[in-house]
Amino acid sequence: MFRKTYQKEQLFAAILPKSYKENIMKKYAQELTENEFGELQISDDWYPAPLPRNICLGEMTYPDTAYSFATFFSEQKEGFELGFGSGNYGHSIFSAGKQGKIKVGKFVVLECTNIIANLSVTIGDNCMFSWGSVITDSWIHNGNNDVSVRRKMLQDLSSTETRHPEFYNPLPVIIEDNVWVGFDAVILPGVRVGKGAVVGCKTIVSEDVPAYAVVVGNPAKIIKFLNPTDTEQFRLQAIKEFTSY
Ligand SMILES: CC(C)(COP(=O)(O)OP(=O)(O)OC[C@H]1O[C@@H](n2cnc3c(N)ncnc32)[C@H](O)[C@@H]1OP(=O)(O)O)[C@@H](O)C(=O)NCCC(=O)NCCS
Repeated sequence: MFRKTYQKEQLFAAILPKSYKENIMKKYAQELTENEFGELQISDDWYPAPLPRNICLGEMTYPDTAYSFATFFSEQKEGFELGFGSGNYGHSIFSAGKQGKIKVGKFVVLECTNIIANLSVTIGDNCMFSWGSVITDSWIHNGNNDVSVRRKMLQDLSSTETRHPEFYNPLPVIIEDNVWVGFDAVILPGVRVGKGAVVGCKTIVSEDVPAYAVVVGNPAKIIKFLNPTDTEQFRLQAIKEFTSY
């Protein structure tokens, strides 16, 4: 049997029936069907489990597969949001603890992206995350690297119901609009990536990235700044050029 991620279903049935049904059953890039328990499943999903009840999918979204939520244990109202036109391509993983919330804006591409939220990961609009990128707001150990502590943690894990480790000291992660993140890049707890920035492949971001910066390497270093071509001034200029043809 598949691991159940919604033992909390009764809880959410009590507090979220409207949000679940009204927000989810709109218009999708993938067809959703309701099973006999009133849970929604993605049609033709290779992982035949329902979607968690406390997620909110915007119109024209592509959630891909319920497997992405196999370790989604959020008990927050709207613990996961996927904005209009956004998609999860290539089995991204949305891993969340009870307090975790993941919010993804409009027209976002998540390609094999791992998002770990035990507090909050917030992604703006028009962002792209390439293969293997990881965004985490927390770590699985409390800073004590002692061998016996680490060994005990893994052994204790084998007897828990969810087999989901405890995460410590989460710090919110914010990715602002129009950010592109290269493959295998890692964005660490507490980081804010400013609007329009680019994070190079294999880059490890442990500090805030200013808007429109291009950062590469480990630790991330700024190599240049881009023109802020997503501003109102550039938008008006583009309209002017377009209408002058
Ligand atoms: C970050 C990136 C956009 C920079 O491209 P660029 O502006 O053309 O930069 P350059 O190639 O001129 O490189 C500038 C310097 O940064 C270094 N550099 C570039 N990308 C780097 C990276 N990811 N990690 C480490 N160093 C990097 C270059 O070696 C060069 O160093 P030098 O000045 O000592 O010679 C690009 O290198 C990158 O990583 N793209 C993401 C690719 C990706 O993941 N694609 C998947 C989605 S399709």
